[in-house]
Amino acid sequence: MGEFNNKTVFITGAAKGQGRAVALAFAKEGADIAAFDLGEKISYPSYNRASGKDLDDLKKEIESLGVKCAVFAGDVRNFKDVENAVSGAVKEFGKIDILFNNAGVAAYGYSWELTQEEWSAVIDINLTGAWLVGKYVIPQMIKQNYGVIINNSSVGGLRGFNRLSHYCASKWGMTGLTKSWAIELVKYNIRVLSIHPTGVNTPFNDGLAELEGKTREEVAQASAGNLQPVAWIEPEDVANSVLFLASDKAGRVTGSQFVLDAGLLTK
Ligand SMILES: NC(=O)c1ccc[n+]([C@@H]2O[C@H](COP(=O)([O-])OP(=O)(O)OC[C@H]3O[C@@H](n4cnc5c(N)ncnc54)[C@H](O)[C@@H]3O)[C@@H](O)[C@H]2O)c1
Repeated sequence: MGEFNNKTVFITGAAKGQGRAVALAFAKEGADIAAFDLGEKISYPSYNRASGKDLDDLKKEIESLGVKCAVFAGDVRNFKDVENAVSGAVKEFGKIDILFNNAGVAAYGYSWELTQEEWSAVIDINLTGAWLVGKYVIPQMIKQNYGVIINNSSVGGLRGFNRLSHYCASKWGMTGLTKSWAIELVKYNIRVLSIHPTGVNTPFNDGLAELEGKTREEVAQASAGNLQPVAWIEPEDVANSVLFLASDKAGRVTGSQFVLDAGLLTK
């Protein structure tokens, strides 16, 4: 028996990196997975994102674990894509117990040099996209009188970073969204949390390196400064924390910010 048998988990940005690791970790514990991710490239930031094939590969891997997986290709900025995915997941599984609001992007640029399109793309994907997914998932959780929402912010949602003003603004915004949702939803037995990882060893860092014309190790060194002697943490470290926070063991944890920073914020 897995710890999450008969639970349904809806995950955005599920086809790569942390979303993928979290999807597999829940599936290994018996949960059915609704996986949402882009099916095609977006123009900004220009590095590679998940493809339809990445989603299909994830589906096969999850189903080989003996649980169900439904995949939905779409953009978290597009309300039709989100609405269709949420109603598709409810049709397939009857409920959504846990939401991992995780899709996100970053790109470098001094704030005064960013175009309005660049600023808006990051805010719209990371912050407005998270709100939009909640807008459609929350009514279902209210109906169930049960749910856990975990928003993937960043250490950039608790401090600033050079040349990442749009990213940090979006991630601080997620902190406010988390606290406000926690207040609104407590009477429906829905817990809401944000997590705040330091750099994670995922394709995200390949994307940032590509934009900078550097290796991912150079990017990690320039930005990290973790207290523990690691350039980044692993997606599985994030998955372990997400599973704990989604479990009844964390039943009294809501509205708070869970930091997985290898000690970065001590300095
Ligand atoms: N990697 C890090 O160093 C790091 C650190 C802290 C927080 N984060 C945050 O964690 C989350 C996951 O990042 P990751 O490291 O797994 O990155 P990743 O690039 O490996 O995966 C992100 C996934 O989100 C998807 N995505 C991007 N834009 C989307 C959109 N508009 N609609 C739907 N899906 C979209 C991508 O296709 C990709 O599959 C992000 O919100 C990121 O900001 C990352």
